[in-house]
This record gives sequence, C-alpha cells and structure tokens, in this order.
Amino acid sequence: MSKPATPADPNCPFLRACRCEPADHTPIWIMRQAGRYLPEYREIRSKVSFLEMCRRPELAAEVTLQPIRRLGVDAAILFADILLVVEPMGAGLEFSAGTGPRILRPVRDGRAVDALQAVEVSASLGYVFEAARLVRAGLPRQIPLIGFAGAPFTVASYMIEGGASRDYVHTKSLMYRDSGAWHALMERISTVLIDYLNGQIDAGAQAVQLFDSWVGALSPGDYREFVQPHSARIIAGLRPGVPVIHFGTGAATLLELMRDAGGDVIGLDWRIELADGWRRLGNGVGVQGNLDPTVLYSDPPEIRRRAKQVLDQAGGRPGHIFNLGHGILPTVPVDHAIALVDAVHEMSSR
Ligand code: CP3
Repeated sequence: MSKPATPADPNCPFLRACRCEPADHTPIWIMRQAGRYLPEYREIRSKVSFLEMCRRPELAAEVTLQPIRRLGVDAAILFADILLVVEPMGAGLEFSAGTGPRILRPVRDGRAVDALQAVEVSASLGYVFEAARLVRAGLPRQIPLIGFAGAPFTVASYMIEGGASRDYVHTKSLMYRDSGAWHALMERISTVLIDYLNGQIDAGAQAVQLFDSWVGALSPGDYREFVQPHSARIIAGLRPGVPVIHFGTGAATLLELMRDAGGDVIGLDWRIELADGWRRLGNGVGVQGNLDPTVLYSDPPEIRRRAKQVLDQAGGRPGHIFNLGHGILPTVPVDHAIALVDAVHEMSSR
C-alpha cells in the first residue's frame, strides 16, 4: 500500500509561476523528462514493455522520480501515456518497437463512435492513480506532481487514424462529412478525460497539462468549431484551484483560441518567439516554453546561450515556466539536459 502523501508546498516556484506570482527562480521541467534518454529508464525498459511499465504503479512511480534525482527539475510529470484512455473505451492499443503507438480498431464512422464503451476510470485506469499516490509519497514538498492527458483533438485523431499521420485525412473526413459523429466522439473522449484528470488530481497531482500535440494541423476556423468547445468543457470540469497548462505544437496561429478554451498557463513551441506569444496571450495567463528540443544536441555553452535568449524573452515576468518547445528526444546526452536545468536556475535566480 502507498505511504501517506506529503502535500506539495503551494508556494514552490512551479506553483507560484502557474499563478503568475514571482518566484525566486524560473521553474523548469522538461516534457518527456521520464524517458529513454535516461540510462536508468532504459535499464528498466529493457526488461519490461512500455505498457507494462505504465500498468505497474511501482515502476511508473520509479521512472517518474528518476529525472527529479538526476536533473534537479522543479516539477515531476507522471509517467503514463496520452493513449492509455483509448483502451478501456474499446479501441485497442498496442506499442510496438519502432512504429510507435497503434490503435487496433480505428474509429472512423458514427457506428464505431456509438460502439465505444463508457469508462469507469477508477476500475480501468486506477493503476495510474496508484502511481500518482506513490510518486507524491516519494517527492519532497518543494516538487509538485503534474498529471496530464491528451487534449481531445489529439486523442481523437489517434483513435481515428490508428496511428501517427501527416495529413489527417480520416480525421478531417469524419469532421467534414459527419459533424454529428465527430462531436459525439469528442464528447465521449472529453467525458473520460475529465474523470481521468480529476482522478489524478485526487490521487496527488497539483497541476495538470493537456497535450494538444497534433492540433497544429487545424485552421483557426476548424479549431473554433470542432475542438474549442470540447477542450473548454474539459478545463471547466476540473477541480477548481488546480492549475492547468494547455499545450499545443505548431499552434502559433491558434494561441488566442486555445487561451479562450482555458488554462492558467499556455505552452508554446519554438516556432514562435516567446515574447510575441505572451504579448498575444495578454496578462491574464502564464506561458511555458519554449527552447527548440534539438538545441540539446549542441554543447553546454550554446545551450546556455540559447536558454538565456528564452529567459530574456520572458524578461523575468512572473508566470514563466521554462521548458522545451516539445518533448526531449531519446538520443539527447543526459549531461546536456542537466546543463540546461543548471543554466536556467543560475541565470534566473533572483
Ligand atoms: O513527459 C513525461 O516524461 C511523462 C510521460 C509521457 C509519455 N508520453 C511517456 C512515453 C508523456 C507526457 C507522454 C505524452 C504523449 N504520448 C504524447 C504527447 C506529447 C508529445 O510528445 O507530443 C503523445 C503524442 C504520445 C503518444 C506516444 N507515446 C508516442 C508518439 C510515443 C513514441 C513512440 C516511440 O517509440 O517513439 C509514445 C511512447 C512513449 N510514451 C514513450 C514514453 C517514455 C517511449 C516508450 C518506450 O520506452 O519505448
């Protein structure tokens, strides 16, 4: 059984930044920080499949804690995957080496949407909540735990395409041909995601991030019509007082619409300058980002120089959470990730 949880300090730098309050340094965490670039992750992964790692709370908790020990980041993110919710809905999920995630029964029409199952999250995804409890019990008070889910568009497009896609032909076909089925699918997914995220919060997450990794495929008009109401419903349905980070990639043209859907902090990728993005978003929200992940393939002096450019764009304004613009890549040298965290802490300390 899990030990009693130590609550996180609401005044730690990460949670202060989520509320746009000043902090003694700019907090940093790294998307995908629990992953393959860490030898201690690969060691466990060499013995256990990815899905099994997710389903065994003690393993998921261990790999969640690894980057806290190794990098000294200011927040932990729960080790799980945005696609875990797809399985109890009945679409089937497989991770195979090299090809990434695969949905076994893609959902491409109204009948398939109707056939999806309702999900009782504590019964089918309780292993994620148990991992969150174990992580919280193993974290110091200064380090909050971030829960997460895929945003409904990104989850829906995986369910429809069956895997990664370049043109989103099946996704957009459903949207344009049968908007009723599209909205029904988005509602089904959103209902599960609200319960799933609230379950993570109840188990010990102090903040949550919605990953809309694929949303950049949409025009602003399509985002407004087909996505925004659903993302907004999810964010409005979460436990009050828990900060939400709303992240998209390739979404520079959608920032205001994403902000209007909700979130205390908007995640920016590197395709927009942080200062421009923040100006467009206005004063009411924080920003997270936005170093190009491939900068970590340069060397520590260049990493530091580039990190300083990002910090300068933020200008010390309260409400900046440092991160990469997207996930850390699996072949990055660990020392370079450590150099980034150290540089951000040192250059931003106030
Ligand atoms: O950030 C973290 O460290 C927490 C863990 C996390 C994972 N996936 C673990 C994982 C998070 C936040 C995710 C989110 C996720 N999963 C997203 C959104 C973020 C993004 O990067 O855009 C997406 C699109 C997925 C779906 C997914 N899962 C993909 C595309 C892959 C990669 C396939 C591959 O082998 O390259 C995964 C697998 C996955 N999820 C791994 C990890 C650590 C690698 C699995 C392994 O060890 O083989």
